[in-house]
Amino acid sequence: MTINKQILLGVSGGIAAYKSAELVRLFKKQGAEVQVVMTKSAMQFVSPLTFQALSGNPVHSELLDADVENAMGHISLARWADCLIIAPATANIIAKLSHGIADDLLSTLYLAATCPVYVAPAMNQAMWNKAVTRENIETLLRHGVKLIGPEQGDQACGETGFGRLSEPVVICKHLTDALEYQNHSPVQCLQGLKVLISAGPTREPLDPVRYLTNRSSGKMGYALANAALKAGAEVTLVSGPVSLTAPNNVQLIKVETARQMYDAVMSKASEHAIYIGAAAVADYSPVVMQPEKIKKQDAQATIILQKTKDILADVAGLDKRPFTVGFAAETHNLEDYAREKLIRKKLDMIAANWVGQEQGGFDSEQNALHVFWKSGDKTFSMMDKTQLAEQLISLIAERLKVS
Ligand code: C5P
Repeated sequence: MTINKQILLGVSGGIAAYKSAELVRLFKKQGAEVQVVMTKSAMQFVSPLTFQALSGNPVHSELLDADVENAMGHISLARWADCLIIAPATANIIAKLSHGIADDLLSTLYLAATCPVYVAPAMNQAMWNKAVTRENIETLLRHGVKLIGPEQGDQACGETGFGRLSEPVVICKHLTDALEYQNHSPVQCLQGLKVLISAGPTREPLDPVRYLTNRSSGKMGYALANAALKAGAEVTLVSGPVSLTAPNNVQLIKVETARQMYDAVMSKASEHAIYIGAAAVADYSPVVMQPEKIKKQDAQATIILQKTKDILADVAGLDKRPFTVGFAAETHNLEDYAREKLIRKKLDMIAANWVGQEQGGFDSEQNALHVFWKSGDKTFSMMDKTQLAEQLISLIAERLKVS
């Protein structure tokens, strides 16, 4: 795979700056042209000469340098870039970017850039977990910046936790996938097709005031609905109870229980070219819903549950079946369970993701996926769900064509 693109790499001042040298090498190996911008503190960790030698271009660091401004000033550098990636991104640069502060070349370039921007954070785990950093990251995500990492593990400071810069190969793969996706412009890749998506949790009532549910926020399913619309599809969204606003131009069917979701999906499935089961459907529901509030009595209480009907498997079993995509959220043995479900439920594709971990999964803005189909698989590293949904829709469109 090649990246025939012009990549502007911003390096800010963290111990992980040395890893960016490897990043330049990997980008170049993929055919990219690379220009490097360093902050003052980055230059205390790694010499600009290293980046100059690896990129084959002079390193930029001054905002107001008359010579540099004439040659490649901040506006022309920003215009030159097909994408801007900041790796490592310190808590400081993240704070500046999220607030529009432009007091050096890198932060000014960010403001001037109209290309996609990627940020690969690297910092001590306490700094990463600090409320203000979390807010700054959320702000950047809202502003359309794409996040790569950080990863969990041992840190240079001797602590363990989230904050490690993603490995250069991971960052490079993430960018290659994203740029490849831009190349094959997914825009309108589902033009004229009808896509049915189920999203969110279900609620299984015990009595008039209580129900069983799960942690699903519906974010992935709603992001998929948006991405399918963007790709030109006509979208029907069957949604469990969530606090999200559905896009205006989808046909929205609101449901509560697994049974209601089953009925809604089954009545629509055959009219659609694609079904994506992104909902976290309850596997069991109470055998009886008590008509009156259950009273507190004994020290222990028993609820008898019965298995719900498997929507995904039944859609895949229809005579006139859509291209059927399932999700597998697992806390262990991810790959084995996902492959087993793909076969048992006779799916065309399954997107597996870890849940119960610190990063990604339910209610998170981000997720990572490992997608399987009969003859292949593809991994998507941790990224925001909007971006992930667009890439997954692109992959579905690609697989649909050859199925
Ligand atoms: O078997 P498991 O519940 O782990 O499979 C997850 C996938 O199956 C998800 O795509 C989910 O939407 C779907 N599912 C379903 N009906 C159920 C349970 C799960 O469609 N009753």
